Amino acid sequence: MTNLTRRSVITAGAAMAGVALHPAPLIAGDDGVGAVRGAAGGTAGSKTRVQLMVNGRAHQLQLDGRTTVLDALREHLGLTGTKKGCDQGQCGACTVHLGGERVLSCLTLAVAVHGRRIDTIEGLSPPDGPLHPMQQAFIDQDAFQCGYCTPGQIMSAVAAVREGQVGTDDEIRETLSGNLCRCAAYPKIVAAVKQARGRSERT
Ligand code: FES
Ligand code: FES
Repeated sequence: MTNLTRRSVITAGAAMAGVALHPAPLIAGDDGVGAVRGAAGGTAGSKTRVQLMVNGRAHQLQLDGRTTVLDALREHLGLTGTKKGCDQGQCGACTVHLGGERVLSCLTLAVAVHGRRIDTIEGLSPPDGPLHPMQQAFIDQDAFQCGYCTPGQIMSAVAAVREGQVGTDDEIRETLSGNLCRCAAYPKIVAAVKQARGRSERT
């Protein structure tokens, strides 16, 4: 990977290139699109003041009511570690934590999460501090190739550990089934989750 370190892939989601991803079951609830269209206060094109609490920092934004959390993170806050794969809830690349639970940020409207805690891959470990145990496990187990799916895989895996859904290999495969990996790193992803599941989670 030219100009990329394995740490940069793991911490900030740097990746070589975009990929086309295939449909799979969702892992996170669509807590967004239909339910809050009205709450956006708006018609197409109108702006709404939204406070996003991302990785412990408050951000005041003026957003179109249709802006997703994914686009707010990437286009308005410059947090590009969260990836856009399908942009329609089918690949898991955009997984973030909302109030500690995993959600698909491409299906969640920013206005619907005003003031709520959002955690992304960039906030999982301090910039110069030790990696989160799940990040370290992905490195140790060589659980990625291009790295495009990796931020979503890691955010989903961290939540899955908290949810207690990683007791067996089958449980791990099931709970991460909504996170697609075009490079087919699945066996090593399972190994990484097994390595990290017994270690303290910091988020
Ligand atoms: S970008 Fe594919 S599920 Fe959100
Ligand atoms: S899509 Fe390449 S590592 Fe998962």
